[in-house]
Amino acid sequence: MIMEKLAINGGPKAKITPNIPMYPGGLEIGEAEKKEVMETLDRKYLFRYYGPKEYPSKVAELEKRFTETFGSKYALAVNSCTSALISSMVAVEAGPGSEVIVPGYTFFASCAAIIAAKAVPVICEVDDTLTMDPADLEKKINKNTKAVIAVHMRGVPCDMDRITDICRKKGVSLIEDVAQSCGGSYQPREKTGYFRRYRVFQFSVSQNYYRR
Ligand SMILES: Cc1ncc(COP(=O)(O)O)c(C=O)c1O
Repeated sequence: MIMEKLAINGGPKAKITPNIPMYPGGLEIGEAEKKEVMETLDRKYLFRYYGPKEYPSKVAELEKRFTETFGSKYALAVNSCTSALISSMVAVEAGPGSEVIVPGYTFFASCAAIIAAKAVPVICEVDDTLTMDPADLEKKINKNTKAVIAVHMRGVPCDMDRITDICRKKGVSLIEDVAQSCGGSYQPREKTGYFRRYRVFQFSVSQNYYRR
């Protein structure tokens, strides 16, 4: 919608809904989540690969649901998004001497995972969507760049068309940090976390943090 007059100049308020509290994931916990947790405890099936034989693994069930939802071939559940990001660093062989590009506005884990791999985080500007600015990304890629971590902050998808094109052109791996947009979509054809149109290396990390 194009406003004739900005709110600051007496036009209609741009935002009329109240601010949501800063712990949105917790607020989404309801009966379904409680039931799953209680079922897991009741089954005494606490490990990933083994437990009482009469039950299926909840982790395996979750991974299967993920592949079905995202249309991906594989899903690997880990204990946190930080662990998923560190796993992605191992997968792309980021290490001493390599650089990984992250947006200036993200959660610190995106950078911490790069540091854990002993690679160097390189900060990319964000644009007015507060996600990675593709123009600056292109400038920051050099011969040491191993990967790019695109972060869909606060449910706002990055410009994945341009970012994937740049990564493909430059031959660098692309990782999506989907911690804040699990279940989100892009334009609205694709799910954040899995872009089928491209065959750039993709490693989606997800944590159901921000649901609205
Ligand atoms: C964008 C982003 N990446 C990574 C993480 C790390 O997730 P976790 O706390 O599960 O390690 C978070 C956590 O809020 C996040 O917001």
